[in-house]
Amino acid sequence: MFNDKKSLIIYFSRADENYAVGYIDKGNTEVIAEYIKDITGSDIIKIEPVIPYSKEYDIAVEEAKERQKTHNAPILKEVGDISSYEIIYIGSPVYWKLLPEEMVIALKDLDFNGKTIKPFTTHEGSGLGSIPNQIKDICEGANVDKELAIKGTDVYNSKEKVREWILN
Ligand SMILES: Cc1cc2nc3c(=O)[nH]c(=O)nc-3n(C[C@H](O)[C@H](O)[C@H](O)COP(=O)(O)O)c2cc1C
Repeated sequence: MFNDKKSLIIYFSRADENYAVGYIDKGNTEVIAEYIKDITGSDIIKIEPVIPYSKEYDIAVEEAKERQKTHNAPILKEVGDISSYEIIYIGSPVYWKLLPEEMVIALKDLDFNGKTIKPFTTHEGSGLGSIPNQIKDICEGANVDKELAIKGTDVYNSKEKVREWILN
């Protein structure tokens, strides 16, 4: 609990080979999600694909493209009941300016009425891409608050930036 408001982080992140930083044990978005958890004490849910993405970047890119095109990206575990949360942090890498399809599937049947959503992305140049608009479309009834975009190569220097974004 933070500011008397119960909050939840829902995020997707892929480790392994990354275009900008080589092989990584922890995905960039996961680093930011964990900062938010440290700062706010939020509950946290990682969205995971039933079929893991390839460890190799070039193959993962093709898999991601196909999943977005076909809208076929089953997830291991659904988010479940979000009714007790007031603030929901939604975090994702930018995949061709959009959410990975697993995030679309995780979010699309949840009831966001009256919730505040704080979107965050990690990226290699596109910033937020079209993700805030995509979230507004998917999460009907939510108030989509100020967003945060962090370059993947900067995640380990960004905890203060994350704190400022949360507090503002
Ligand atoms: C399939 C795929 C598509 C991507 N598309 C974009 C893009 O459109 N714009 C961008 O800035 N970065 C793009 N990236 C880079 C990722 O958004 C960036 O590396 C991000 O930090 C990865 O987060 P993660 O480590 O949490 O998965 C893409 C990466 C992948 C694997």
